[in-house]
Amino acid sequence: MDQKQNAQKPSLKRIAVIAGDGIGQEVIPQALNAVRATGANVEFSEFDWGADRFLRDRTTVPPDGFAMLGRDFDAILAGAFGDPRVKTNIHAKEILLGMRFKMDLYANVRPVRLLDAALCPLKGVEPKDVDFVVIRENTEGVYTDAGGVFKQGTPDEIATQEDINTRKGVERIIRYAFEYCERHTKLDGSPRHRVLMCDKSNAMTHAGGLWQRVFKEVATDFPQIETQHMYVDALCLQMVRDPRGFDVVVTNNMFGDIITDLAAALQGGLGMAASGNIHPGKTSMFEPVHGSAPPIAGKNIANPFGAILTSAMMLAHLGMTAEADKIEAAVLEAVRHQRTTQDIGGALGTREAGEWISKKINAR
Ligand code: NAI
Ligand code: MG
Repeated sequence: MDQKQNAQKPSLKRIAVIAGDGIGQEVIPQALNAVRATGANVEFSEFDWGADRFLRDRTTVPPDGFAMLGRDFDAILAGAFGDPRVKTNIHAKEILLGMRFKMDLYANVRPVRLLDAALCPLKGVEPKDVDFVVIRENTEGVYTDAGGVFKQGTPDEIATQEDINTRKGVERIIRYAFEYCERHTKLDGSPRHRVLMCDKSNAMTHAGGLWQRVFKEVATDFPQIETQHMYVDALCLQMVRDPRGFDVVVTNNMFGDIITDLAAALQGGLGMAASGNIHPGKTSMFEPVHGSAPPIAGKNIANPFGAILTSAMMLAHLGMTAEADKIEAAVLEAVRHQRTTQDIGGALGTREAGEWISKKINAR
């Protein structure tokens, strides 16, 4: 993916694996099998962080956990976190947001690609029409949990939730989006050429104003890249009406969270969506977009392709593009031949769909 890293043959890469809760426990093993099938030079170390561990000994992340991940591993592959037995969801917050915030993984990269027309709920939309990427700011915004509640439980209760936008944070994510646009091509090999910034600067004038100024400034360093702006509400409308024009979209933490669920629907649902949490040069974390889906957990029906495509994204990030391509090609073939789970029209279980992918990769 990062072409600069592709020049030399990659050495052994150490991957920390945190499958987490619910369907994370089912989809991540399938992703590991797919990676193994490619013959990628990787070594997996599995960690039991998640609800079970938390309920057992109250540990969310062991002391030194984040430092250990950054020091001892080249990448992290995570499943999902969230369990109805942990009402506060504290473990999910400490593990997942902990990795994003404490390891400063500021760029949440979420590719949106339609692999087969049959997966898209929109009429007349082909795979070539949906091939964009959302770059979501991942360390600031309303997710910093700044704010408070005053006079709680009284009729005069006041709640504030602050939207934190730093000049540095906004600039680095916008610059990342332009650099991503410059370096990456679409699935069909054609170059990317446009960065769209999405905000709500008409209503959120202070934060939006900063994003607007920085976007214009950074754009001058990339004269060959076209720029565009949309308010988030208009963007939602357009994504459903006609997703053809989107290329690279950059936005803040909350809008990125919301629009990528909408975008996931264009590609066949949450079970198909992959993502990376990236800080260039540091240990980055890769996870499917979906959560732990408690109602379907343990039933062997969760779609493993989001997790499998996520593992391909991780390999590409580590410079193993040939291995990543093998995985993507196998998933594409599975979708075309309906060797999939029920959510996207097939009849296979999680394990069976995963096995089909591994066999396909092995056969190449
Ligand atoms: P969710 O993503 O778990 O599920 C949303 C819907 O999509 C459900 O109908 C689910 O059955 C379906 N779905 C999700 N992944 C699927 C897959 N691979 N195959 C087939 N269907 C799939 O989101 P929800 O229900 O809002 O949250 C459930 C739990 O997950 C909560 O505890 C939440 O906090 C947590 N969560 C964790 C995330 C993470 O770890 N990154 C992200 C989102 C939610
Ligand atoms: Mg979300």
